Amino acid sequence: MTPQTASEKNRELCLLAPVIPVLVVDDANQAAGLARALVAGGLPVLEVTLRTPAALDVIREMATVTGGIVGAGTLLTPKDVENAKAAGALFGVSPGATDLILDACEANDLPLLPGVATATEAMRLLERGYTVQKFFPAEANGGAPALKAIGAPIPQVSFCPTGGVSLKNANDYLSLSNTLCVGGSWVAPKAMVQAGDWDAITALAAEASKLPR
Ligand code: 3PG
Repeated sequence: MTPQTASEKNRELCLLAPVIPVLVVDDANQAAGLARALVAGGLPVLEVTLRTPAALDVIREMATVTGGIVGAGTLLTPKDVENAKAAGALFGVSPGATDLILDACEANDLPLLPGVATATEAMRLLERGYTVQKFFPAEANGGAPALKAIGAPIPQVSFCPTGGVSLKNANDYLSLSNTLCVGGSWVAPKAMVQAGDWDAITALAAEASKLPR
């Protein structure tokens, strides 16, 4: 898959809802319930981070949930990319963007949302054809003012800022012309996931899905 095609696909996904939940799930038995709760709240695009031993099973389970579009986050190695693809991930997310990760995603037809933190990184990815990128870690890198400033000279790139984004500051990003959506873990708090409190998670998702863009 070319970087251009990956960017087109991810642009479409990013426009489906204002927030992509960033999920850290320890138990695959909770996966389907969690995905159903988020989809019911209006957040269909889900990023499952490869940060737990269960993550690939979680992706497999979530991929069966009607209406959900499940991707894999925290892609760090080509093996992660292959595993994510095999588990049914429809897109990939990485905190940064190395040649190995870009090559692997392009070779495995996994549309990658690659992470950048600086103008140089955004330019390098743009040179390769990636016009949709993740700004990470968003708040630590200067937040919405920094992303707005990057957008002035590089308006060709659109972003999904992630990292420190919450209901409180999401609007600061979503109101920027170079922001398609935001990513965040606040819609699936660990305690609620562990307790299987799906109604509470649906309520958080519903609140997030109504954020204006
Ligand atoms: C992460 O690194 O886990 C994601 O960027 C999500 O960050 P958050 O927990 O600050 O939303």
